[in-house]
Amino acid sequence: MSVNEVRAALENVADFLENYSVLANCHMVHYFSHEYHKTVLTDEMKLSLDCIHKPGDIPLFLMKQASFKSDFQFSNVKTLTKNYLENFLSGIRNNSFLSLSKIFQVESLERAFEFNPVGDKKSYEIQHVCNILLSKWKREDLDSVLDIGSGKGLLGQTLSAISGWRVVGLDVMNLNETENTTREKYVKRVIPKNIDVPQKAGSFRHQSCYITEDMDLQEILKSKNPRNESKTGVTGLHTCGNLASTSLKLFSSNPFLTHVCSVACCYHLLEEKFASNPFASGPIVPQDRNRKILTSSFGFPLSQFLENKKFSVGRNARMMASQSVHRLTKEECSDTIFYRAILEVMLCEKAGWLKEEDPHSHFKVGRVKKVSNFFDYARRASSRIPDVKVTEEDCELYMKRFSNDKTNFFKFYYLRNCLAPVVETVILLDRLLFLLEQDITASIVQVFDPAMSPRCFAILGKK
Ligand SMILES: C[S@@+](CC[C@H](N)C(=O)[O-])C[C@H]1O[C@@H](n2cnc3c(N)ncnc32)[C@H](O)[C@@H]1O
Repeated sequence: MSVNEVRAALENVADFLENYSVLANCHMVHYFSHEYHKTVLTDEMKLSLDCIHKPGDIPLFLMKQASFKSDFQFSNVKTLTKNYLENFLSGIRNNSFLSLSKIFQVESLERAFEFNPVGDKKSYEIQHVCNILLSKWKREDLDSVLDIGSGKGLLGQTLSAISGWRVVGLDVMNLNETENTTREKYVKRVIPKNIDVPQKAGSFRHQSCYITEDMDLQEILKSKNPRNESKTGVTGLHTCGNLASTSLKLFSSNPFLTHVCSVACCYHLLEEKFASNPFASGPIVPQDRNRKILTSSFGFPLSQFLENKKFSVGRNARMMASQSVHRLTKEECSDTIFYRAILEVMLCEKAGWLKEEDPHSHFKVGRVKKVSNFFDYARRASSRIPDVKVTEEDCELYMKRFSNDKTNFFKFYYLRNCLAPVVETVILLDRLLFLLEQDITASIVQVFDPAMSPRCFAILGKK
């Protein structure tokens, strides 16, 4: 795809998301306290949602795993309103990876290496990333590979063993002896004994450091591999939040970094330039042991195009986009989020109304697991709020007040969450465009089956 085509696609997706920005940024905790059903949904959308029997059908319609037919066959009104919801969902499909297949290439990737089958998710991901790196980079005569946010080093160690590359893993975490042994055992487990491994022995070395966009990577690489001369690839598996953006910025600004393959995750941890984060005062620094003040940088937007538009996604929308739409079609939603929204009204009425102070604020109650009913939930959650006591009678009254709204609550939840692919697409296209704007050859490739691993797209680049 040319830079102009990607820019045009990104413009459409960004405009579409902007139209639904209020819905995408709703926090379910505020559903009742901010009266979202009245204030966020248009009358057409409300009528349209009335025609849906089961809230869980909405993501199924989106993924075309169910058709509208059975729900909408009765009257003209229903036909009209049906179109409203259908338009919304087809808009999502047209403005996301669900149908932008020209950009999100689903290549049938050459399986470069046969691994021993190991059933867990991490192994599945490591094996697929190793295969894409081998098939894309093996003829490129690379000197070394940097694994950004390398965690326990499983990807780096496996990659070095099958490719013969010198891999350096960078992560803010230190690796201890136990992890070194686990890594070696892991590689023995996944690599079959009788398979051709490279003549030249690879190596894996770990360097603990906090990665920033202006760090001297060449210095670090030289200290680990003194013979390192040129052509280094950068990879990262599930580089969370800003780290994915940082790795693309490092790739673009360092001439010796010639190839990149970055799979991101945790969009809620991204720091946006044009949206304030109500929950943090600056970029989150994982395990900042030395308590140094680190360069503050933003992870979104990266492209000049969205920068000029001063485009923002919003924290709640990114939070929502971290949940997989594929999982929505498979898993029943827990009643806890419904209970949480009722509890918010209860706490506001008992402990004072927060809405006027800050529309984004809400009581912090944390997670409450394995709840049997609303009283059980409310009692345990409210125990974390000073000076508030909830009784069983209170809970019965509140439950009575809101129980008829449960179906609408979940319809709203699913409707909002259907926007997740659009949010992810804006973030990924912005990264792709950032590389293309600098005349770097780049593409987006699906590396995992989203049912196995929802954050499944890699940005590939080559200078
Ligand atoms: C989601 S984990 C992925 C780990 C590994 N790649 C894997 O797939 O198992 C992200 C890793 O990035 C590291 N990390 C995040 N931001 C970082 C930064 N700015 N500098 C160094 N490490 C960072 C975290 O410590 C964590 O190990």
